[in-house]
Amino acid sequence: MENKFYLTTPLYYVNASPHIGHSYTTIAADTLARYMRKALGEDKVWFLTGTDEHGQKIQRAADSAKSSPQDFADKTAAQFKNLWKALDISYNDFIRTTEERHIKTVQKVLDILYRKGDIYEGKYEGLYCTPCETFWLESQLLEGKCPDCKRPVEKITETNYFFKLTKYQEWLLGYLNNNRDFIKPASRYEETLSFLELNKLNDLCISRPKERLSWGIPLPFAPEHVTYVWFDALINYLSAVGEFDANDKYQSQWWPAQLHLMAKDILRQHTVYWPIMLHALGIELPERVFAHGWWMINEDKMSKSRGNVVNPLDMIKKYGLDAYRYFLLRDVPFGLDGNFSEEAIIKRYNSDLANDLGNLVYRTLTMIEKYFGGDIPDVDFSGLSGNKQAGDIMVKINNLRPLVYAALNNQDFGRALGGIWELIGSANKYIEDTKPWNLEKGKKEEELKKFIRVLVEVIRKVGEELEAFMPHTAALIEEQIGSGLIKKGAPLFPRIC
Ligand code: MSP
Repeated sequence: MENKFYLTTPLYYVNASPHIGHSYTTIAADTLARYMRKALGEDKVWFLTGTDEHGQKIQRAADSAKSSPQDFADKTAAQFKNLWKALDISYNDFIRTTEERHIKTVQKVLDILYRKGDIYEGKYEGLYCTPCETFWLESQLLEGKCPDCKRPVEKITETNYFFKLTKYQEWLLGYLNNNRDFIKPASRYEETLSFLELNKLNDLCISRPKERLSWGIPLPFAPEHVTYVWFDALINYLSAVGEFDANDKYQSQWWPAQLHLMAKDILRQHTVYWPIMLHALGIELPERVFAHGWWMINEDKMSKSRGNVVNPLDMIKKYGLDAYRYFLLRDVPFGLDGNFSEEAIIKRYNSDLANDLGNLVYRTLTMIEKYFGGDIPDVDFSGLSGNKQAGDIMVKINNLRPLVYAALNNQDFGRALGGIWELIGSANKYIEDTKPWNLEKGKKEEELKKFIRVLVEVIRKVGEELEAFMPHTAALIEEQIGSGLIKKGAPLFPRIC
């Protein structure tokens, strides 16, 4: 398909409830999907999200909740779905790695790579802590003991299956050297490249013996082993949108993905394992992997064990969905880490939303009511009789769509919103400089009409461009000022004191 946009979020683990970090990636993806649907057409965009449900993390969480892993996964997957509903996420598909369509594809991939000789049987040797069921590296041990439970570790050897990453390292280096835009932001590209230049990859152990972990997809050629959760999970991007045919050729109307979105914590899996897996299968690579930064709380990583997770539902209850979406995408440049705090939300809310946007709309509607009885003046505002400020605003209006489009093509939400707010700022300044009450007193009706019309054009344009970021606000703007007769409502964003 020409000009299509296939976009993915990570598949989130179901061991714990979703928090603001998960909502960040998904809101960013939702904004891109909405924008691209407008730009390319509704049916040209496919937005995939879902949950990653196998592996030890989930097994353990289920054990401690005295539940079966499937029941546990069902419950948490439902929490993710509920959250996406509350955040108005317009995904096209939600894939769970326990679904048949996924299991089938994973087993097919394993089968193809095994037959090809890219997966082979070998011995895995490591230092294992039996109570914690964890392998440790020598360097991670504390005085030779498990760093978690402080008990002795054992050296164990077990049969496992390995994927030949080593065979493809040179190829991947070459690919990266020729495709600088494959990984964004540029700092993440450099990080991956230098990692590959400085380190020799080991083959990847892609199985776990069933006696140690049973919650996974059985290897088709060795059913006493299950698939390592990362090898399983990455394949979702294929299993959701296509199938392998009888000649082992992958068929899909959506693949290759235009964009895999995630945070920096899972960059390497997506820029080393995943491209090599695809290349070994003879499948085209995704166009881009973008890894954004982390939201921290008081400079600390958010996690259940630290007890500092923030529930997105609490935030939208307090500040409204659109303000929350706006804050996440505006406050920190996409790609960098940021510190999450309610003070920061309130600050953004009061200055950008209440003061700048809310006031512009409210003042303009009030003037239309006062001077024109609620009718938007119907004047030709194209020739603005040499008013430089109005002329500049019209230029900004015309340039806004290409500016936002270009920014979003680079996943630069801050620049896109910055462009929209620049127009809002110019319009507010135009009101202050023009002093419309003087026009009214001086009976300069034509000028007043044109002045109002320019403001209406600004607001309509802002509404249009904001739709993907803040769908409800855009709908309210459209409702209030979309037709010839205004419908003034309460201020869009009442100040928070
Ligand atoms: N299951 C794997 C991904 C498999 S993809 C085939 C996984 N899951 S996860 O639940 O841990 O989600 C990690 C992702 O959640 C991050 O890459 C990011 O998209 C999002 N975030 C989780 N915490 C975050 C922050 N504190 N800040 C920003 N994003 C965060 O890894």
